[in-house]
Amino acid sequence: MQVDVQTSVEHLPAISGMTVTSTHDSHIMDETCLMLSNLLTRSMASKAPALGDGMVSGEKELHDLDRDLSISVITEADTEDVLELLKRLFFKDEPLNKYVQLGECKELEKYCTKNLSEHSSFKAVNSRGEIVGVTLNGTIMKPQPGDEPPAKLADNCLHPKFRKIMALMDHVDEQFDIFELYPDIDRFLDCKIISVDTRYRGMGIAGMLTDRTLDYATRNGIKLLHVLCSSHFSARVMEKMDFSEVYRLPYADYRVDGEQVFDPEQPHVALRILTKRLD
Ligand SMILES: CC(C)(COP(=O)(O)OP(=O)(O)OC[C@H]1O[C@@H](n2cnc3c(N)ncnc32)[C@H](O)[C@@H]1OP(=O)(O)O)[C@@H](O)C(=O)NCCC(=O)NCCS
Repeated sequence: MQVDVQTSVEHLPAISGMTVTSTHDSHIMDETCLMLSNLLTRSMASKAPALGDGMVSGEKELHDLDRDLSISVITEADTEDVLELLKRLFFKDEPLNKYVQLGECKELEKYCTKNLSEHSSFKAVNSRGEIVGVTLNGTIMKPQPGDEPPAKLADNCLHPKFRKIMALMDHVDEQFDIFELYPDIDRFLDCKIISVDTRYRGMGIAGMLTDRTLDYATRNGIKLLHVLCSSHFSARVMEKMDFSEVYRLPYADYRVDGEQVFDPEQPHVALRILTKRLD
């Protein structure tokens, strides 16, 4: 059977109008690699400088960037490489991690890798085999009557800085119940982590990873994608893909004992939840 896979790239202004098609047997669609070099070459055209004597080192780095990317499913075998990327970037530059200067954090490592066996997470890999972007997803089931209420995340967290972030997540959980908003939904796919290599940002790679996630959800009968965005940039990614904001907590309004807990640098002014229904 032949299946055409089309990435929805309309949200990428620099490459709109492009369609990537790939032909596969349906049962191996998760292994699909969509070669994106043309897309990236186009989307980077405005960024890439022309060759010339006056090229400064940052420009040369951009010119030398390996633009031959593929997007594929993450498996357990990728665990170490995924963690290497996240520890180098996400642990340091996600706005809340950066604000608390998180440092080493085994709890966050465990959170990141917990759902990899679902094969619902995706990576962007360059032709040198380096992972340059990931989206890590996990399925969340609706609690059933009689279920024990889940333990507070902060209660079991030994890392003092990460515990502050977990306490914020507990606060959001108390304020906002997604299953109340969508009573007909019995599970959703949670985009838990999204991270793109600094050199590859602003090229729409997070959107392409999200597109694969949407494709996975559709093929697995999951009707809702949920993203908690601590970053203005990740919220922009979702807005460009027609997600809707269903919850917003300005960081200035989150106070413990009267004190503001998080004050990340601009433009990260609020934690926001964005969702997209797939039916
Ligand atoms: C959030 C993140 C994954 C977005 O990835 P991306 O592939 O750069 O996404 P996009 O190319 O769609 O750009 C998204 C927004 O980032 C900003 N951006 C653009 N170029 C950028 C660059 N060179 N560097 C940083 N941010 C840039 C823009 O605001 C852009 O929105 P716009 O298109 O409306 O201008 C990436 O910025 C990242 O890894 N950040 C650190 C980790 C993090 O905060 N993760 C999200 C936690 S919820």
